[in-house]
Amino acid sequence: MKTHDLHKLFVDELADMYDSELQIIDSLPKLIKLASLKDLKDSLSKHLLETKNQAKRIKKIFTILGIPLNKKPCKAMQGIIHEAEEIIKNKPKSATLDAAIISAAQKVEHYEIASYGTLRSFANHLSLKGEIADLLQSNLNEEGTADKKLTKIADGTFFSSGVNSEAAKSQTASKRKPAASSSRTPKTASKAKTTTGRSTKARKASTATKDKTSPRTATKKTSTISKRSVKSPALSSRTRAKTTSTVTRARQPSALNHHASRSSSASKLKSLLSHGNKSSSKMKSGFAAGRK
Ligand SMILES: [Fe+2]
Repeated sequence: MKTHDLHKLFVDELADMYDSELQIIDSLPKLIKLASLKDLKDSLSKHLLETKNQAKRIKKIFTILGIPLNKKPCKAMQGIIHEAEEIIKNKPKSATLDAAIISAAQKVEHYEIASYGTLRSFANHLSLKGEIADLLQSNLNEEGTADKKLTKIADGTFFSSGVNSEAAKSQTASKRKPAASSSRTPKTASKAKTTTGRSTKARKASTATKDKTSPRTATKKTSTISKRSVKSPALSSRTRAKTTSTVTRARQPSALNHHASRSSSASKLKSLLSHGNKSSSKMKSGFAAGRK
């Protein structure tokens, strides 16, 4: 690359940075307004004044070079600012929002640090040492100081906790709440299970009783359950279906006659045994007669 090409690149990059500074001047007041922490507000406000000065320094470089300030939109800064707006959008004022603002501001600073570092190096290699290199160094120093200050606000110092720590604490606190409710959930679930268990036992007992009861009683109970079903919407349709099914089974003649059928079989068995005993007595008396 010829020196001439590097000079053109230097001018293009400088114009890019001028546009970047203008974009930052537009967007910093929004961040200052949204910030909660006084130290962060003060730091951003101070850097807003510095940024205005940085834009003036770039203008001065163009004047020294004797070339008109050409306008070149910085797409990278447009992207960084657009992303920052997305990150901070719809967030309430909080430590987390402050952390998001610092994150966005530091991305801006790092882009500027890289750009001014490169421009200073280009200036030194283009024999533009002296005032131009000094002006660029001043901008670079301010960007570096602003970035370090933001890191301190984010991470804290020996004497104070930082924004990120505060944001993490609020995150833990908000996580605890759902955790507490979720810890209640299994209890509720087990309670529900117990209730279900109880109702299953109750249904079994009820079924056993109904087996012994007359169809009239079963009808009465069905009517009571039906009334309860209407009165209590809490009784699930599944429970209603199961209960009704059990009662319906109890009302079926086969189920009702089951006990009677078993009693009849027992009587038949008794009669057979009694018949067997009678036959045995007859055989015994016959044997005794023969021996005589
Ligand atoms: Fe800056």
